[in-house]
Amino acid sequence: MKLKEWLSPIVYLSSNWISLIGVVLVTTAGILFMFLIPTSMRGHSPDPYIGILQFMVLPMVFFAGLALIPLGIWWFKKRHGKELPDVFPALEFGNPRLRRLLAFLAASTVANVVIGGTLVYKAVTYMESVNFCGQTCHVVMKPEFTAYQNSPHSRVECVSCHIGPGANWFVKSKISGSWQVISVTFNLYPRPIPTPIENLRPARETCEVCHWPQKYGGDRIKVFNNFSDDEKTKRTQSVLLLHVGGGNGYEGIHGAHMGPGVQIRYGHSDKQRQKIPWVEYTGKDGKTFVFKAKEHQGEAPGNLDVRTMDCMDCHNRPSHTYELPERGLNRVLAEGNVDLTLPFVRKVALETIKAEYKTTEESEREIPRRIAAYYEKNYPQVMAEKKDAIARSAKAILSVYQRNVFPEMNVKWGVYPNNVGHTDFDGCFRCHDERESTKGGRTIPSDCDTCHKTLAQDEESPKIMADLGLVKK
Ligand code: HEC
Ligand code: HEC
Ligand code: HEC
Ligand code: HEC
Ligand code: HEC
Repeated sequence: MKLKEWLSPIVYLSSNWISLIGVVLVTTAGILFMFLIPTSMRGHSPDPYIGILQFMVLPMVFFAGLALIPLGIWWFKKRHGKELPDVFPALEFGNPRLRRLLAFLAASTVANVVIGGTLVYKAVTYMESVNFCGQTCHVVMKPEFTAYQNSPHSRVECVSCHIGPGANWFVKSKISGSWQVISVTFNLYPRPIPTPIENLRPARETCEVCHWPQKYGGDRIKVFNNFSDDEKTKRTQSVLLLHVGGGNGYEGIHGAHMGPGVQIRYGHSDKQRQKIPWVEYTGKDGKTFVFKAKEHQGEAPGNLDVRTMDCMDCHNRPSHTYELPERGLNRVLAEGNVDLTLPFVRKVALETIKAEYKTTEESEREIPRRIAAYYEKNYPQVMAEKKDAIARSAKAILSVYQRNVFPEMNVKWGVYPNNVGHTDFDGCFRCHDERESTKGGRTIPSDCDTCHKTLAQDEESPKIMADLGLVKK
């Protein structure tokens, strides 16, 4: 039978309203799907909601439409069974039923191209925006969004880090994205959101879109401010010359781990990758060394989870940088938002922000109240003279809490360790603990000059700051 003859009964029978609605649904879903393809091919691509639309809602509409067509035919046959002609009209333009079907297809195509195109474009632009990612699931993402706004990446869109280039990433992020929306809707998500989230974790290429290897390097001076908890608050400073080094060569911190041909693999025994009993280093000459902690048996990683080191093993908090209470306070104290003449101000501040509050609201009420109450009780004179300064300081102290602790999400002090450094968390010292290679002769060094020259450590007025012209002599 020729195709035309085979098609003619279908065309005849499907010119009923149910089948025609099916035709419209199939066309609509098909066209909208095609509109969404470019957004998903862009490498840096849409967030979970677009994925849901494209990969869950549209296919559902498509198949529902597809099912309506035979359903309509079946209904039409049942109703008009006896009146049906023996020979169906030929598929020619004169056939009114064919004309009707074609008109339907044409109209819904034009309407979809015009309306759908505009709508999809608007929706995609909106959904890709930082506001959407950070605020739509307001409570869930609040910790990450707040930390992000205070980070060097506050102008970088969520999707530039979280959805990497390549089809593989695309599919993975779609699956995990769809799951996220479902878990938010049904309140299934864990609090705090566990880290690392495998499918959200950016890849090395993600960072290198903006930070190319030749560019992030050299030596870098970094000043750390610290304040004492005494009655009279005293500031000290540490000054480091950090050997950041070039990713292009083998110099410094970057070169040692990220230089061309260098590969470091490590085995971790906990999910957060804080305990690393096994490290394997392959140098540019291709020689491999294994370094293991004393308690680890054998040359192989055994049953540890093994990962290849990349940017995120040090910079695991480039954007969601949470602080410990001491460091957060040091920052606002250095910024000058707290009156340093208030007696014991850091000690009181530390105690207040470390206390437990059940809700954000409670902390907003209690922290300023407790600070005022402390001065009211112990230093009524100071309270009388410096009421405004105390209120202003309390606000800055509260801001440290607000930026780092989110009771609703169980995000408390220190739940997200930061791996750059070694004072707040083990960080570099997870591996740099003088462990020897199994062949002998090499260690992962912890010598204080390995990574930075310590130009000053906790000094009240470091000479180096004056030498560099950073303070007046
Ligand atoms: C500069 C890159 C970057 C940007 C921009 C960025 N993130 Fe992240 N994000 C990361 C990294 C790195 C991690 C930690 C991954 C790990 O430890 O495995 C992370 C982790 C997360 C997590 C898991 C919980 C956690 O804190 O570990 C969530 C949720 C998240 N990001 C949401 C967002 C949202 C929402 C935005 C935009 C407001 C955003 N991210 C912007 C790099 C980024
Ligand atoms: C879309 C561009 C973009 C992407 C992608 C990006 N960054 Fe950045 N990053 C920036 C910009 C811009 C700055 C500088 C901000 C400033 O100087 O205030 C920066 C700054 C930094 C800094 C320096 C922070 C400091 O304290 O000075 C680090 C570290 C960093 N990025 C790491 C990363 C890592 C790791 C990734 C991958 C997860 C990444 N970045 C992805 C644009 C990007
Ligand atoms: C072994 C740990 C480690 C790895 C791996 C690592 N970094 Fe860094 N990076 C550091 C340290 C430490 C600093 C200095 C931190 C500081 O200034 O506080 C730094 C600084 C930076 C800076 C700021 C440089 C400047 O001079 O302002 C950028 C950007 C950066 N890293 C990007 C990257 C990227 C991209 C990758 C992956 C290709 C990467 N890093 C891999 C440890 C690492
Ligand atoms: C996963 C384990 C691991 C982590 C985490 C790690 N390193 Fe390393 N690092 C190594 C290994 C392995 C070597 C190579 C040792 C060798 O050459 O024998 C190395 C070498 C270095 C060197 C070169 C030492 C030299 O004398 O040539 C520097 C500098 C360095 N690391 C800095 C850092 C800093 C800073 C951090 C934290 C931000 C860090 N590392 C985190 C594994 C690690
Ligand atoms: C494996 C590399 C490495 C080694 C070894 C190392 N450091 Fe550090 N250290 C760092 C990095 C990276 C930072 C910067 C962290 C940051 O940017 O926040 C740092 C920061 C510091 C700071 C300032 C931290 C603060 O919060 O006040 C001091 C002080 C310091 N190191 C002292 C030492 C001493 C003392 C030793 C020897 C026992 C040592 N370091 C060994 C990598 C190292």
